[in-house]
Amino acid sequence: MFEVLPHLAPDPILGLSAAYREDTNPNKIDLGVGVYKDEQGNTPILTSVAKAQKLLLESETSKTYITPQGNQGYIDGMLSLLLGKSSPVLLADRVAAVQAPGGCGALRILSELLVRCNKDAKVWVSDPTWANHIPLIGSAGLKIETYPYFDKATAGIRFDAMMETLRSANKGDIVLLHGCCHNPTGADLTNAQWDEVLAVAKEREFLPFIDVAYLGFGEGLEEDAYGLRLLVENLPEVIIAASCSKNFGLYRERVGLAAIITEDSKTRNIAQAQIQSIARGIYSMPPSYGGALVDIILSDNALNQEWISEVNEMRERMKTLRAMLVKNLHDNGSPKDFSFVNEQKGMFSFLCITPEQVREVREKHSVYFVDSSRVNIAGINQQNVETLAKALVSVL
Ligand code: LMR
Repeated sequence: MFEVLPHLAPDPILGLSAAYREDTNPNKIDLGVGVYKDEQGNTPILTSVAKAQKLLLESETSKTYITPQGNQGYIDGMLSLLLGKSSPVLLADRVAAVQAPGGCGALRILSELLVRCNKDAKVWVSDPTWANHIPLIGSAGLKIETYPYFDKATAGIRFDAMMETLRSANKGDIVLLHGCCHNPTGADLTNAQWDEVLAVAKEREFLPFIDVAYLGFGEGLEEDAYGLRLLVENLPEVIIAASCSKNFGLYRERVGLAAIITEDSKTRNIAQAQIQSIARGIYSMPPSYGGALVDIILSDNALNQEWISEVNEMRERMKTLRAMLVKNLHDNGSPKDFSFVNEQKGMFSFLCITPEQVREVREKHSVYFVDSSRVNIAGINQQNVETLAKALVSVL
């Protein structure tokens, strides 16, 4: 029966990892999938996470099922982290939430919920957006439209065009926004621009759907939550998909959170039951391990401080890597000014070169990054930066 299925092209992001692994060039460079890497190119377990693992090993007494909503300590800790400890929506009991299997799991649960609310609902996503957003949200059955976001010619946000499109959104439409560290461009809204997004959300009554997977990697854990908290505190309804893959380095453990801010606490109870039933219908309950680790870290003062320092260290290192790349490109005679890379935030940057140039640098120099020109900044290090800069300059 399966012969009826068509061949699929490799995943635009995960497919790069496979191609990189097969490349025998000793000087190959991997700037593909978004994982943090240290100077040696390793993705280490954070020290705070390693300590939490030891504590969990000593304290865990059972492998019985956890509840469908997941680990409540984890959920409470994450909501405080995202929304602020004394967020008015938490105090008013207006937040339904489940632990989800990764940010993808959270996006899927929320998409399924939106379909249950309105099977014809339309989601506006930024152009461009993370390569998996459209397949993931679309396969839940939602219709997708795009709003202008990034201009490759100026390497800046097309804010006026974005606002114009959002002003045409209708009540009941959903607008997907990246909480911080926009993936793939690294171009973030300023606080003043978030204020304008809030105004148009109030005016048009669309529902903001915030994907936040890089909290702490832009300017800081508090600073990066500005837009998210602004919308949550000033609108009746917001939905949030969060991930602990990057800032806790828990990629393979699949730790995420799906949260729904409802208009009142009665609706909150309805939404809570709905998302639990959606989870039950797909995977029953989330894996326990990663959420238990985050719960331990967020509820222990010393471990929490240690984790915050580790997030700060990753962020600051990525900023120095940006500067190092820009300098090396300049020093190696780049005809293009890449100084915009220093302004971009988080793990990714759009180099704003053509897909042909991206493929040429891959084929000739074994430098792997997404065709859109998205590079994982964390894949750069002191050993590879000059090779990388020379390779890039050679295709410009
Ligand atoms: C990425 O954007 O590279 C990461 O979020 C990994 C993924 O699943 O695509």
